[in-house]
Amino acid sequence: MDRDFNWPLHDESDVNRVAEIVRSGNWGNPDCGGEVALFENEFAAFCGSKYALSCVNGSVALRLALIACGVKPGDEVIVPPYTFIATASIVIEANCVPVFVDIDPRTYNLDASKIEAAITPRTKAIIPVHFAGQACEMDQILEIAKKHSLRVIEDACHGHGAEYKGKKLGSIGDAGCFSFQSSKNLTCGEGGMVITNDDALYQMMNSLRNVGRVEGGAWYEHHYAGCNYRITQLQVVLLTNQLKRLEEQTMIRHKNGTYLNELLSKIEGITPLSRGLGETVHSYHIYIFKYDKSKFNGLSKVEFAKMLAAEGIPCFMGYPEPLYKQPLFQKKNFLCYAIPEGVDYSKVQCPVTEKACYEEAVWIMQHAMLGTAKEMELFASAILKIQQAVRNN
Ligand SMILES: Cc1ncc(COP(=O)(O)O)c(C=O)c1O
Repeated sequence: MDRDFNWPLHDESDVNRVAEIVRSGNWGNPDCGGEVALFENEFAAFCGSKYALSCVNGSVALRLALIACGVKPGDEVIVPPYTFIATASIVIEANCVPVFVDIDPRTYNLDASKIEAAITPRTKAIIPVHFAGQACEMDQILEIAKKHSLRVIEDACHGHGAEYKGKKLGSIGDAGCFSFQSSKNLTCGEGGMVITNDDALYQMMNSLRNVGRVEGGAWYEHHYAGCNYRITQLQVVLLTNQLKRLEEQTMIRHKNGTYLNELLSKIEGITPLSRGLGETVHSYHIYIFKYDKSKFNGLSKVEFAKMLAAEGIPCFMGYPEPLYKQPLFQKKNFLCYAIPEGVDYSKVQCPVTEKACYEEAVWIMQHAMLGTAKEMELFASAILKIQQAVRNN
């Protein structure tokens, strides 16, 4: 396919907004006000939540939310193993223990039916990741959390603008976290946001991101072990401008994803992930489908993804292994963090995640999902072309 799928999309209006800030000299954000506060209000309104609090990245957004929930050393936090490292590493950074619960083979999201079996008296929170922009089964997760008095922090780093039963992802649990890193559906290069309706959580996160200062306190008065996690004015003006495009772009991806599902489900050996488990808008930060090599003459998924990329489709084999296989967990490289001695990740086995990583999952990146319906048809024909070629071998 001779087409460049560029990301991020931008025009002179983005350049002008950044230039205005450069000329103003107000680049930083010492008081969390100005353009930063304006964007936070806009993002909170967009998500339908009471508060939005910006910070340096999505990892820190998760970290602020977890610490503000009041976790203590040794507490356990349930996370999926099919996610970016930060979902679990921030748990370690809070001196807590990530407990991996397998994903649902239909969606690759945390399997709600497996959560209760992992709950112990030490469990304090669940971090469901709306992976790829598809909503987790939030009704079931919230019910379990209520029954066991757990906090729910949504990792919505892939889910800007996506919805579950008409509610924006991130606005459903105790807090919801977003990343604005370069590949994300809403980006300013690097950045993060956490949204919440909870006054106490907001106050604590606000202090933690601003070196432990408190509202109404003096400049040299620090109450909590926070840090300078503030975003800059230069970043938020880009976000303000990009937010104007988000809804339209999300609907294009949603529509294209639905059409691509229809096209790919007709190809033997290709199965799009299931829909219809509550998500009303899918942001398709990643379009994921399952690959069955037995229908491609035994061609490995790695080779298949390379051949598909050679056809000009921005695709990727995804995570090569489950998160718990990382040296951080296997070697327990926990450094100064107070993780109990008995924790042993070498015994963790999540078969659905292992199958997704080693055999099945292929990712098409979000910017490719902004194309035309015709381009979706070209994606499907590229897969058929590879199938025919390997079958004729
Ligand atoms: C699911 C998920 N959670 C958290 C993060 C962390 O975001 P950031 O890179 O902005 O720290 C990412 C980033 O890729 C992510 O994909």
